Amino acid sequence: MIQKKTKTRYQMNQNKTMLPISSHLQEKLSVPLKIASVEVKSRVLQSPLSGVTDLVFRRLVRRYSPNSMMYTEMVSATEIHHLKQLPKLMEIDSNEQPISIQLFDCRPDFMAEAAQKAVEEGAETIDIHMGCPVNKITKKGGGSSLLRQPETAKKIVNEVVKAVEVPVTVKTRIGWNDNEINILDFAKKMEDSGASMLTIHGRTRAQGYTGNARWEWIKKVKEILTIPVIANGDIFSIEAAINCLEITGADGVMCSRGTLGYPFLVGEIDHFFQTGNIRSKPTPIQRLECAKEHLQGLWEYKGKRGIYQARKHLSWYCKGFPGASELRDNVSRIETVEQGYELLDKAIELLIINY
Ligand SMILES: Cc1cc2nc3c(=O)[nH]c(=O)nc-3n(C[C@H](O)[C@H](O)[C@H](O)COP(=O)(O)O)c2cc1C
Repeated sequence: MIQKKTKTRYQMNQNKTMLPISSHLQEKLSVPLKIASVEVKSRVLQSPLSGVTDLVFRRLVRRYSPNSMMYTEMVSATEIHHLKQLPKLMEIDSNEQPISIQLFDCRPDFMAEAAQKAVEEGAETIDIHMGCPVNKITKKGGGSSLLRQPETAKKIVNEVVKAVEVPVTVKTRIGWNDNEINILDFAKKMEDSGASMLTIHGRTRAQGYTGNARWEWIKKVKEILTIPVIANGDIFSIEAAINCLEITGADGVMCSRGTLGYPFLVGEIDHFFQTGNIRSKPTPIQRLECAKEHLQGLWEYKGKRGIYQARKHLSWYCKGFPGASELRDNVSRIETVEQGYELLDKAIELLIINY
């Protein structure tokens, strides 16, 4: 239920839109999020996104939201077990905090081993991905298929908790499909097995990323757990973040697709939560400057592979200004970093002339 609303500084101070926020929520936002021993000064989290949340992307997000918890892309514990060298996916900056390394697998022993290595890499928490809908992963017993194997899921959490000193968290969905929504039972099992926080993407595995996130299930989970619960799904704006927290009573929100080509989102929401003021949105020129920086970062960090990955990132930045769709087409075909710079520079020049 939406809390009774009282006027707060959040309503009074900001000057653009009226965004009412309950005193109950305001109180929550004024204290840090506690994930067992780890204290996080922001209640807006950047989600793990495979193929996206590498070190380069996280640096951009962190510039606008220095205190937010961030996650690596998911890493397979089986891969970690078999590879001699740790995958690049696990690399984190030495000053990058708060940071979690996300792991997935169905083997508790591999997960425990991988978690120890992740802690050696600097992970402040270990997150276990039990929500991935991808066939390749669920067929092998990982990701969201663990919602159907709660005993294995419990074992995984148990073993990882035993193996590391840092808090262990779980990210999952509300169930396998509409006939198997078992998040209430599953969430309790995760807490009882030693998880220190639960993030819930309010969709079933069958939904994929379609339909609405069902925040009402997150509310139900929040009512029965004592560990922090983070709400995920459809957080694309400050308004959505407030709404979600008011409805669910969750301890924080996690942004995902809203950050694709827009590493400003987590910071925008966090800034509002911290100050009650709405930060000005970046102009198209600023977004394209950011895209350029993103491209440069990927090139420097990953070389040619970074350029291929940059194609999708750059195309996500290209929206909401004249000529965006043509630019999107062109950047999604770049072969070299120079081609990318040239396209972006030209677009920036045109925007400067026309604005
Ligand atoms: C491209 C892409 C990659 C993703 N990779 C991961 C991942 O590695 N780990 C994870 O827990 N969730 C992953 N997710 C799921 C998101 O973290 C999030 O739970 C989901 O997108 C719902 O939030 P949204 O509706 O705000 O996008 C991914 C989603 C997308 C679209």
